[in-house]
Amino acid sequence: MDKNKIHLKAPGNWINDPNGFIYYKGNYHLFYQYFPYAPRWGTMHWGHAVSKDLVNWEHQGVAVFPTKYEDQNGCFSGSAIERDGRLYLYYTGVHYNKINPEDIHQCLNDEFESSQIMITSEDGIHFDNFHGKKVIVPPITDEKVGDRTHARDPKVWRGKDAWYMVLGSKTPDNRGKLIFYKSEDLYDWEPINTASKESGFGWMWECPDYFETEGGKVLIISPMGFRKEAGLEENHTICMLAAFEEAACRMEMPETYQYLDYGLDLYAPQSTEDEEGRRVLAAWLRMPEAVNGKWCGMFCIPRVVEVKDGHIYFRVHPNIEKMYTRRISHASQADSAGYKVSFEIGDGETVNIGGYKISRRGRQICTDRQGVFPEHTNFRMQCATPEVKEGFHLDVYVDSNLIEVFVNNGEYVISNTVYGLTREIRAEETEKLQIDTLE
Ligand code: FRU
Repeated sequence: MDKNKIHLKAPGNWINDPNGFIYYKGNYHLFYQYFPYAPRWGTMHWGHAVSKDLVNWEHQGVAVFPTKYEDQNGCFSGSAIERDGRLYLYYTGVHYNKINPEDIHQCLNDEFESSQIMITSEDGIHFDNFHGKKVIVPPITDEKVGDRTHARDPKVWRGKDAWYMVLGSKTPDNRGKLIFYKSEDLYDWEPINTASKESGFGWMWECPDYFETEGGKVLIISPMGFRKEAGLEENHTICMLAAFEEAACRMEMPETYQYLDYGLDLYAPQSTEDEEGRRVLAAWLRMPEAVNGKWCGMFCIPRVVEVKDGHIYFRVHPNIEKMYTRRISHASQADSAGYKVSFEIGDGETVNIGGYKISRRGRQICTDRQGVFPEHTNFRMQCATPEVKEGFHLDVYVDSNLIEVFVNNGEYVISNTVYGLTREIRAEETEKLQIDTLE
């Protein structure tokens, strides 16, 4: 398997959220939550990967790591912006109030506090972790603003008249909450407004992202405790078209939302503008087990976000799409970075890709990974889109541990992590499947 092509994968051990995603000085930079010592979550560092084209990635090692009282127990998620040629990273520093004597890398009973920290670089490669950090928002003391423990994942953007930052947090009665800050100079930040929902939408919102597109203003959040089904993962990423008045940071969220991805493995996405000004998004694919006991965590294909007629589309980025130029007749002829299967699916039909089943039930596209996934996890085996409107065309991107089913060019997407796929593709009419791989 090619670990750094199409899907960026953990260099070893553990990765989770994408961080600081930006096109800067001719390269895409993608940082990520990284635990360098074992294939499980622990004291967070920012790992770093760079790409010219969003297809081929090179790991750069650790960019940001704990050095201060405020980030002693982790450099949590955050974002990047550029000003006057300098790269600015914003992240959450975590300090545990009590150390777990049996495992210093995980917190006891949520007893920690969070600060927001900035670190800058003149080339995007060198970061002075010892002298270059500045705490821009100390732990919150006013409950009306936000929670002292759960306030994290700063997303910073340039607005019309100032810089803005949104944090994910919670209300005292355990509803998700956003906190908006504003700054003239990127150093001094003032809380301006907050937003939450009567109906809750989970108890805490992680990794907020907000941006404008031609078709509407998009809010993405990853609420914890959102979808409750006995024993199954409860934290899921949703997106919606929000009303936002920038100067006053006044946000109104609708009741209706979409899952960002209907496979429900994808979490904590982050977007930026690509070199052509498209809105492109990266996201973490959760995995229940390390591959060969060695690495755990990877990212989806970079997706272009577009809004049309009130619907949010997630399309394969054109740089990725154009890589699949070699037609093959059997999956065993595929490149080590994977292959793509395209077809129209009929009602009641099933296509089995290496043990992963994709079928159509009426207007819904359904998947079943039971044959290619460990049992007894809290992951869902079966997934389905809502009723689709635009036809039944599927483009299925297959890599050794990830299948991404794009329905109607991004009307909906189902992405699932998988283990032990075979190279066999089975369908009632194999002739209609078009299989393409990389040169
Ligand atoms: C989301 C998240 C973020 C946090 C980071 C810690 O997956 O929990 O809220 O900053 O991961 O690794």
